[in-house]
Amino acid sequence: MATAFPRCDETPQWAQLRAHPAAQGCPLDLRSAFAEDAQRFAHFSQQAPLVFADLSKNLWSRETEALLLDMARACGLAPQRDALLAGQRINHTEDRPALHTLLRRPAGLHLPGDEPWLAQALQEVHATLRAMLDCAEALRNNPAITDVVNIGIGGSDLGPQMAVLALEQFRVPGKRFHFVSNIDGHELQRVLRAVRPESTVFLVASKTFTTPETMTNARSALDWFVAQGGQDVARHFVALTSNVAAARTWGITTTFGFWDWVGGRYSLWSAIGLPIAIAIGAEGFRALLAGAHAMDEHFRTAPLAANLPVRLALLDVWYRNFLGFTSRCIAPYHAGLRRLAAHWQQLEMESNGKRVDQAGRALPFATSPVLWGEPGSNGQHAFFQMLHQGTDVLPLEIVAVRQAAHGLPDHHEMLLANALAQAQALMVGRACEDGHRHFPGNRPSTFLLLDALTPASLGALIALQEHRVFVSGSLWGINSFDQWGVELGKVLASELRQRLASGDVAGLDASTAGLLQRLR
Ligand code: F6P
Repeated sequence: MATAFPRCDETPQWAQLRAHPAAQGCPLDLRSAFAEDAQRFAHFSQQAPLVFADLSKNLWSRETEALLLDMARACGLAPQRDALLAGQRINHTEDRPALHTLLRRPAGLHLPGDEPWLAQALQEVHATLRAMLDCAEALRNNPAITDVVNIGIGGSDLGPQMAVLALEQFRVPGKRFHFVSNIDGHELQRVLRAVRPESTVFLVASKTFTTPETMTNARSALDWFVAQGGQDVARHFVALTSNVAAARTWGITTTFGFWDWVGGRYSLWSAIGLPIAIAIGAEGFRALLAGAHAMDEHFRTAPLAANLPVRLALLDVWYRNFLGFTSRCIAPYHAGLRRLAAHWQQLEMESNGKRVDQAGRALPFATSPVLWGEPGSNGQHAFFQMLHQGTDVLPLEIVAVRQAAHGLPDHHEMLLANALAQAQALMVGRACEDGHRHFPGNRPSTFLLLDALTPASLGALIALQEHRVFVSGSLWGINSFDQWGVELGKVLASELRQRLASGDVAGLDASTAGLLQRLR
């Protein structure tokens, strides 16, 4: 299916951007740009709901940004966004909408352009939310439950895990949270050694309820529970899924459902968020949703030129398609955000790691960058060397939090000074005749700042990233909401599992056959 909207390379601005000196190997010099424009910081920074962003230390000028904005307009970005938010079936390869924003919409809020079925869907969203939050509160307030084990993978693991870690200071005392995702039995075994059946709740989180890793881990957990004399499976196993029937057939009667229009990597706002709700309580979970909704409203209503997810995505497209940068490094300067890069990695790379457009035509330009990263200041003592002096330019994205939640003197000021220093050092560099000690500078960074790390600000930060990924995907003309690229490996793994058991290598390539024989 071709969309009604031009792809970015079909717009007149594409050629203009290509002809731009910066795209011709003559990059803007950040130091001169600041010297020449006293308003550069004011222009390229903005306060969006709960997130402040400084984009001024990036290799673009006002003129570049204006051209990128015109390109976005020519791609029909505003109508594409409106189609997303109104529940149109924009995920056409799976013939469904992508409506994670409905999960955080306040009850009874109807927006212009809504598909007619949304009113009913919103009621169901809130009915399920109430039931799920009641369950969360009951578990949270039950001192007999000491351990919550989430069994899920991909979107059924990364978002909830990241948020539970991030919101540690809001967590109920006396409960431990464990996340088992890998099919590697070492992971499950480590957790099972640490828990007791009578005080543990297992959350089996899987949109499809067919993912082999999750189903195998859940089966082993249930076998362990029964073998340990565990009583009352219905109280100790809860399924979070859009395939409630499969969960029941599997043997779990306590289920919280969600809908096929919630993509796995966009599902932490749904029943998949139950571990978050147990950790931070119903009020906290509602605040997380409210923060995300505030960002949704910003995305929906702010003019494109003052729309933070749009501006970030335009920068991403500029870097990927015109300056040829291949990756983006995420450095959260907050230990609670230690799984942020992993979560954003799935969000962006599974959404936009595509090689064909909506019509199935091979794309003549690059799409998703590689996202990677570790918390600062740790990363500074590991891979930042390459950011400062390597041969590649790797844009850095710092996520910092103004207020700390701990009372330890010195630490937070040192942490924030480090975040500032890295962005500054990358930009200003340091001239030295000794090449080993020379810092070229003019290396880009973006600074995202939260006032405090709270459920609301975390919700806004994640929604910001979700919308940013949608915007770059829309300009590239791809479907950001499917993930067919994960299928082939799944099929081959199931076939190779049988071959590992039988030793049959007939028809395999020599490398796979040789390795298989060694692995037996
Ligand atoms: O294989 C990829 C994927 O489908 C992800 O998109 C998803 O988040 C993950 O697997 C887990 O899927 P499920 O929630 O259905 O178990």
